[in-house]
Amino acid sequence: MGKNLLQALFENSDTDSDVNEEDYSLVPEQSQCRIGTVDYLTFGNVNFKIVEDTSKGCGGKIWESASVIVNHILHVSKLQPNFFQNKNFLEVGAGTGMAGLVLAQTAANLNQQCCVAITDLEYCLSIIQTNLELNLDENGKKNCLINELKWGLEIPKILDKSYDYILAADCVYLESLFDLLIQTFKDLCPINSKTQIILVSKKRRRADKKFLVKLKKFFYVEEVY
Ligand SMILES: C[S@@+](CC[C@H](N)C(=O)[O-])C[C@H]1O[C@@H](n2cnc3c(N)ncnc32)[C@H](O)[C@@H]1O
Repeated sequence: MGKNLLQALFENSDTDSDVNEEDYSLVPEQSQCRIGTVDYLTFGNVNFKIVEDTSKGCGGKIWESASVIVNHILHVSKLQPNFFQNKNFLEVGAGTGMAGLVLAQTAANLNQQCCVAITDLEYCLSIIQTNLELNLDENGKKNCLINELKWGLEIPKILDKSYDYILAADCVYLESLFDLLIQTFKDLCPINSKTQIILVSKKRRRADKKFLVKLKKFFYVEEVY
């Protein structure tokens, strides 16, 4: 039986001030609450301003891996003409939505139509919508779908389709979520499908290795450090 390709990009880090080893709630509170902070970012030829609000959970701010994922996809897209055209992307744990939104607008700027499903827990959806309204033109918006997706639960009907790419930025951070996230990857990637998962995460603690060990039972994993 074929396994789906999963590219796992890890950044090395011994310490991380945002997530503590002891923090095992689903969405740990942030030590310093950032409300209404705006990050200005440029990717290729798109300029973005992203509103952040960490009052409800860790997804309310941009994590470093989100930019790594965007730059990786933009790099791949430059090597293939019409890369975005008719492709289906799904971002899990999208937080502010920055990665998925940049990809949707980049495709629109290239006159390419795709579907970028930007998903997270319910508390993130309004901030993703705010960032969509702030940054995307009408064609960029047509490339987007914002919907709740809780890891480990049944995939909502609207998201239940075949994806070319599944994106996960900094979603490996709590051991209690590992099995739930892997279950969602399995549900989204039927065996022998061509779906590729691009997972980027900061290497935080020993437990992260357990995540890779578990993943390798179900996916062909290509590690890039
Ligand atoms: C560390 S943040 C990363 C956010 C974003 N990907 C980034 O890189 O900026 C992890 C994200 O996973 C989401 N998350 C945590 N538990 C989840 C679950 N059970 N189902 C879906 N999303 C979850 C959080 O809400 C948060 O947005």
